[in-house]
Amino acid sequence: MKAFDIVTITVNPALDKSTHFKGLVAEQKIRCATPRYDAGGGGINVSKAIARLGGESLAVFTSGGATGKILEDLVEKESIAYHAIEVETWTRESFVAVDDNTNSQYRFGFTGGEISLEEESKLLETISTIQSRFIVASGSLNEGLSTDFYQKIAKIAKKSNSKLIVDTSGEALKKVLETGVYLIKPNVGELAKLIGVEKLEMEEVNAAAKQIIASGGAEIVVVSLGPQGAVLVTKNSYDYVPAPNVAKKSTVGAGDSMVGGMTWALAQNKPLKEVIRWGVACGSAATMNEGTQLFKLEDAKRLFEWLKDK
Ligand SMILES: Nc1ncnc2c1ncn2[C@@H]1O[C@H](COP(=O)(O)OP(=O)(O)OP(=O)(O)O)[C@@H](O)[C@H]1O
Ligand SMILES: [Mg+2]
Repeated sequence: MKAFDIVTITVNPALDKSTHFKGLVAEQKIRCATPRYDAGGGGINVSKAIARLGGESLAVFTSGGATGKILEDLVEKESIAYHAIEVETWTRESFVAVDDNTNSQYRFGFTGGEISLEEESKLLETISTIQSRFIVASGSLNEGLSTDFYQKIAKIAKKSNSKLIVDTSGEALKKVLETGVYLIKPNVGELAKLIGVEKLEMEEVNAAAKQIIASGGAEIVVVSLGPQGAVLVTKNSYDYVPAPNVAKKSTVGAGDSMVGGMTWALAQNKPLKEVIRWGVACGSAATMNEGTQLFKLEDAKRLFEWLKDK
């Protein structure tokens, strides 16, 4: 297979459907506007963000049934190189609906169907044949997949000397740290859970991240803080970047856009100070767009310039 600088993995992708309506009333038919379809799921969103910045990546994802075919079609339309691994279960859908009367957004997510052991092996085999500098594993795991699925990818990445970037939560994230990865991007709540506390104050984030690094879990810990921005922590550094004040429309895809921006910057060999700023710029730019749309290149660039001397 052709070598790629960046490979993203989405084991549980989704066909995102978004629409508008006026007034949420029970028992009545709610008229929705013509829906918009987008390819979604952690890794696919990261690939989209990288493409928006002018970068290239290979998106590896599972695809099943008629919804899987539409997903592949949408990825193809974005001009993203991809490798779809066929699975028996239909690709899940997700549904986002905005009530124009109240400007409230309702997000419905479905769990992904079960992936069989053979399908899991096929996925892992494919991943181990791909040569790449960076692997991004992002998103939730399907039913039937054991929580050490990302850990298995971490072992493959170690063997092939690829730098693994992981954005997930709960047990899957905990397990991956036992093997050790290049970078993780928990939000502050996910970080708190990871180290077994209920809540983390801003001034406790550095020590919590350093604790993970000291135990060999990750070389770089980026903690995203929503509207407050993010911090990037390494063994001997701490860099806080505030989020710019933007006209927020929807935070869907902010985390994925941030990971996309950072991965793109890392692949360009940018210094870590710029990597975190590209991450915050892309994350915040994503909040300026409706529904499941990510960010516009000009917004990300403008926000990056603004953050340069922050
Ligand atoms: N309300 C906001 N205003 C400005 N920027 C924001 C806002 N929310 C998120 N961001 C930007 O997006 C980045 C990632 O957001 P956040 O910390 O919410 O990630 P997350 O919880 O992983 O999100 P997701 O729900 O997409 O997984 C932040 O570091 C910030 O740059
Ligand atoms: Mg997230």
